[in-house]
Order: sequence, then structure tokens, then C-alpha cells
Amino acid sequence: MIYDFDEIIPRQNTASVKYDLLQKYFGKDNLLPMWVADMDFRTPDFIVNAVKERASHEIYGYSFRTEKYNEALIGWFARRHGWKIDKEWVSFSPGVVPALNLIVMEFTEPGDEIIVQPPVYFPFFSAVKNHNRKLVLNQLAYEKGRYSIDFKDLESKINSNTRMLILCNPHNPVGRAWKVEELEQLANICVKNNILLLSDEIHCDLVFPPTKHIITASLSEEIANNTITAVAPSKTFNLAGLSTSAIICPNPELKRRYDKILDNVHVGSGNIFGSVAAQTAYTHGDEWLDQLLDYVRENYRYAYDFLESFLPEIKPAPLEATYLLWLDFSKAGFGSNEELKDFIIEKAGLALNEGVSFGAGGEGFMRMNLACPRKVLIRALNQLRKAFEERKNTDK
Ligand SMILES: Cc1ncc(COP(=O)(O)O)c(C=O)c1O
Repeated sequence: MIYDFDEIIPRQNTASVKYDLLQKYFGKDNLLPMWVADMDFRTPDFIVNAVKERASHEIYGYSFRTEKYNEALIGWFARRHGWKIDKEWVSFSPGVVPALNLIVMEFTEPGDEIIVQPPVYFPFFSAVKNHNRKLVLNQLAYEKGRYSIDFKDLESKINSNTRMLILCNPHNPVGRAWKVEELEQLANICVKNNILLLSDEIHCDLVFPPTKHIITASLSEEIANNTITAVAPSKTFNLAGLSTSAIICPNPELKRRYDKILDNVHVGSGNIFGSVAAQTAYTHGDEWLDQLLDYVRENYRYAYDFLESFLPEIKPAPLEATYLLWLDFSKAGFGSNEELKDFIIEKAGLALNEGVSFGAGGEGFMRMNLACPRKVLIRALNQLRKAFEERKNTDK
């Protein structure tokens, strides 16, 4: 079956954060929203039908994730990522961010040091700071437009108070799909120093072939025993509103402690529609996902070529993974982040994520969501081009 990713589906007045909270976050409504990391594509029909069928039962009492759900998840990770998950390793979370917070609460103490690698998805910072843990930054290296892990800096930041490292694999917002060697080096540093590795792999399915996603915990038994992995069908199949993700702990002691805190805060039951959607997605989603990846990659190529031709002062980071394009405006002549933000909103009419919100190294950047019909992307790029042309004319 051929899926249609070109259809423009109005999302206004659906309580959509991306569309209906523009006024709140950007101060005006009439912006093209390319910020929040969800997609403007229809959730695939087989998932919608499964959810509708469950809804038609008309009793929505407490539920649990069944053996069939586990089998679907295990099958997906074996097929797509070559990772053999044992069903004893699988736990639930209503979301990856709630899990990051619970794991920080359970496995560290106030004052402990936790390393994150900015520029990075901003809830990593709050998951550390909200619980009075000390945030330690191992900023990514950025050279010749390419990002890498600064291992020298990482090792210099480790001391006897370092308890955890939160890894973003693949990395939002810089679009890197970390290589085996990078992950091995990082994970082995954690093992050696007794630092729990929390690997957020929510974007794992959104890696563009021939690049492959490497599951951090799959690298060795030692690494698996020291790693908690967070995954979800939410980015892959546009299900964020169904609040369903999975936490995978090969180490039984880590799993026991995670399950205990999940149970203590009483959020382990989850959302009925989320588990039906996840099970269906992980069973039938391969063909749809392959087509989605082709479409998003074409969007990336379009944006890349457009910027190279018409706006060479904006440099996109090479996109190996995610549908989030990280744009470097630092050579585009803006005096400050405020000035850049103001220009993007007021002159280009776009709602993008500000680079500075991703922490150190985000200055002068913007993040653009490419998971939209091509026509919308073209409109956004043209708005940007027009705004730059007008700016050049007023400068003259
Ligand atoms: C790296 C990363 N982790 C987690 C999330 C959100 O996870 P959830 O909605 O399951 O809490 C996002 C959403 O953009 C993300 O990019």
C-alpha cells in the first residue's frame, strides 16, 4: 500500500500544543508551526482502526499490557534493530520524560552529579534540576558543521559524585545517530566509573538508511547491565497524545527498582488506547515507517538544497536521524538570540524551537520540524527566504 504524506490536515482547534498554543508561546497565532516534535501526518489507518475497535467496546476500565503487546514490542526491536529483548526486561512508562524523572529520583540522591550532553532535548535539564541533583554539562563538540562527543571533556567531568549520564541516542536536536565506536567508548566509560547510563532512544526508529540505529544496551553484556533504555512508538507513529512508552532494563535489580517507583506513583496501568496502538504499530508498522522515512528524507534533501541555493548563510546540520533539522544561523548576521527569535517570528512568520532552549551550544541555532507535507515545508522555506531578502533590502 502507498501512504499519502502530502495531504494537509488542519490541526487547529484539536487542543494541539503545536497549533493551538502559538499565542501562548510565540505571542501570536498566525505562524507556520514547525516546532513541537510531533508530525503533521495522519496516524496510519491500521492503528486508527485498532483504537476505534477498542473504543467501540465502550468500557474503559483498568488494563494491563498483555503477552501480545510484549511479543509485538520484542518482535519489532528484533526485526528493526537486531536487539533481542527478553520479556522480563520490559516495563511501562506513560512517557519517556516521566521515566527520566522517576529514574533520576530512584537511582540518585540530592547533590549527586548527572551528566548530559548539550545542546540537547531540554527536559533532560529539568529531570536533573527539579530533583536537586547537580547538572554537569559535557557539551558536544561542533567542528566543520559536524557534531561529536567530546570524550576528553567527559572524562574530565567525572568524579566520585557522578552517578548517571543521560544519553540522547539518536540525538535531538543535532540529528546524530551515534556510531558503534562512539557508543562503546561512552558506555564503557560509564561502566568503568560505575555511572548508570540512561539511554533515551525515543528516536531510534527514525534513522535514515543506510545509517543504522545502534541500541546502546546491545553492545555488550556489561553495558546492558549498566544501562536503562527508554523507547516509545510515539515519535515513530505520531502517538504522543496516547502517553505510552517502554523502559527496558536487562539488569533485574535495576528493573525491580524501576518497577517499584512506577508502582509507588501509581502510573503503571497506562492508557488502554496507547497499549492497543503500540501493539498494532509494532506488529504492522514496518511498511508505513519505511515510506515515512523516505518522505522525511526527501523533505530534508529539499530543505538542504533550498538553503544551499538561496540561503547559504544558514547551515543545516547533517540529518542522520529524527525529523528535526538543526539550523545554524550564527553566520547570518544576527546580533543576539533575541534578534534572531524576533526575526523568525515577526519577519518569517515561523514557529521554530529556539536553539538556546537546548542549552550550551544552542546559541544562534533554530530547530525546524520536517515532519510535514512537502508543500508546507516549501511554504516555510519561502517565507524564510522572503524575510532574508527584505532584510537585505532594508540594510542597503
Ligand atoms: C529525546 C526525547 N526524549 C523524550 C521525548 C518526549 O517523550 P515523551 O513524550 O514520551 O515524554 C522527546 C520529544 O521530543 C525527545 O525528543
